[in-house]
Amino acid sequence: MLAVEHLSHSFRSGSENTPVLHDIDFRVDKGEMIALLGSSGSGKSTLLNLMAGLMKPTSGSILISGQAIEKMSENRLAEFRRTHIGFIFQSYELIPHLTVRENVELPLVFQGQRGKHRREKAMSLLSKVGLGEKTEMFPSQLSGGQQQRVSIARSLITQPAIVFADEPTGNLDTKTEKEIIDLLIELNQTLGITFVIVTHELEVAKRTRRVIQLRDGYLVEDGAWAGDAE
Ligand SMILES: Nc1ncnc2c1ncn2[C@@H]1O[C@H](COP(=O)(O)OP(=O)(O)OP(=O)(O)O)[C@@H](O)[C@H]1O
Ligand SMILES: [Mg+2]
Repeated sequence: MLAVEHLSHSFRSGSENTPVLHDIDFRVDKGEMIALLGSSGSGKSTLLNLMAGLMKPTSGSILISGQAIEKMSENRLAEFRRTHIGFIFQSYELIPHLTVRENVELPLVFQGQRGKHRREKAMSLLSKVGLGEKTEMFPSQLSGGQQQRVSIARSLITQPAIVFADEPTGNLDTKTEKEIIDLLIELNQTLGITFVIVTHELEVAKRTRRVIQLRDGYLVEDGAWAGDAE
């Protein structure tokens, strides 16, 4: 499903070179749910953005469904991302003047899919995330947790091979955070969606089966959550 091989990344500005990720290596199987944990600045978002094809690594490889995304041309990568990769942002990134349903349909608009088919898929996903009654409202009329549910539905509408989430509960209170994590776990278990979720919340990491931990750009742990034993 996903293979990260000897991945390193440095940011360059002028003559300054800042190494951020060092020789990261792991694989994710179809249907896994993984928490990517680490303190602020440890490189979590950088790793996620590289895996989602939002930028190119300095060295190493990222394979999704067997295809090395860092070798793809801009156009090919954009097309690959539209069809294979879902992304959930901390700040939802919904379009304010589109309804909830239109926001969820949007990735299919970019794929050139027709109206009726798009609408049916969006409605079905919105009821799966508990928003069947809110489809014709605008994002500003929803709570933060509900807006994140919309963005989760949007990330799934193309039936991506893998969904990346960068601190999806970072803007939410504890109770809503738990509800969103419950939803992601349910989607993982019922639909077999593969999730990689960046978090610095231990509560989130405790609930996924596998935790990958970064420290200062190095992968320092990969396995079942063992934090409680420490
Ligand atoms: N565009 C950039 N240019 C230069 N340095 C960057 C850039 N983006 C990130 N960095 C640096 O890379 C390091 C890792 O940043 P990253 O955003 O991946 O951390 P993070 O683990 O997601 O942190 P947080 O939990 O605060 O979101 C930091 O030291 C940051 O300053
Ligand atoms: Mg981050």
